[in-house]
Amino acid sequence: MGVIAVIGGTGVYDPSIFENIKEGTLQTPYGDINYTKGSYKGKNVIFVARHGSHHSIPPHLINYRANIWGLKKLGVTHIISTTAVGSLNLNFKPGHFVLTDQFLDFTKSRVSTFFEGGKDGVVHVDVTNPYCPELRALIEANAKKLNLPIHNGGTYVCTEGPRFETPAEIKMYKQLGADTVGMTNVPEVVLAAEAEMAYSTISMVTNFAAGISKEPLTHQEVLEVMDQLSSSFKSLILATIESLDPSQDCECHHRIAGFGGFHLAD
Ligand code: HPA
Repeated sequence: MGVIAVIGGTGVYDPSIFENIKEGTLQTPYGDINYTKGSYKGKNVIFVARHGSHHSIPPHLINYRANIWGLKKLGVTHIISTTAVGSLNLNFKPGHFVLTDQFLDFTKSRVSTFFEGGKDGVVHVDVTNPYCPELRALIEANAKKLNLPIHNGGTYVCTEGPRFETPAEIKMYKQLGADTVGMTNVPEVVLAAEAEMAYSTISMVTNFAAGISKEPLTHQEVLEVMDQLSSSFKSLILATIESLDPSQDCECHHRIAGFGGFHLAD
């Protein structure tokens, strides 16, 4: 049976919501990853804190390839990640959850593929649906049962960070169609696509983006809102895991079949 992974973003560091937890480290061709293994309602789960357990890794220095390769090696088939986001859409208010369905990539310095030519080959992964529609539908249904404010669909612009944006940048991103802004979903979602795993992200709106909010933005404010959302978030994750069948196959698991599929090299 497949394993379900939770990648915890800003404000989500605590794997103790799961049972039988055990910490582990795995070597990957890209560096080591630390993870926590556990279970919930008989399902195997893995938790990875994207920024490290004490928020010590900034967005542009996260080892995205090690995390995704490691999860694949650990048997993960479905990933539910979390991202704290600023909102550019007045309907997406602080405290709301958004199931991102598209991204705009404004990152600058990140390696965003496992396939670097040579023996790795060259792969052009299709990202028409970068975020698994089936996982999104499941999360949405659970959020509705729990009466949580959720929007299924929204375009996330990924910035390089670690600084927040200028109001001029936010104005431009809004004109380009962005609803939310964050610093970590790319290349994570792209690497998960290449590794043929079903991937979704629950974006939690912590603030209106720079210039939309007239107040200067602080990381503290982001953490405070995440803290307020944490118990709803935990209920949503647990309900989703309970209703998710990790043996379920979908298109995400065959995304690069035309290139021979994804194989774990050592
Ligand atoms: N910008 C970028 N990343 C963020 C924001 C923001 O306004 N809020 C939470 N993460």
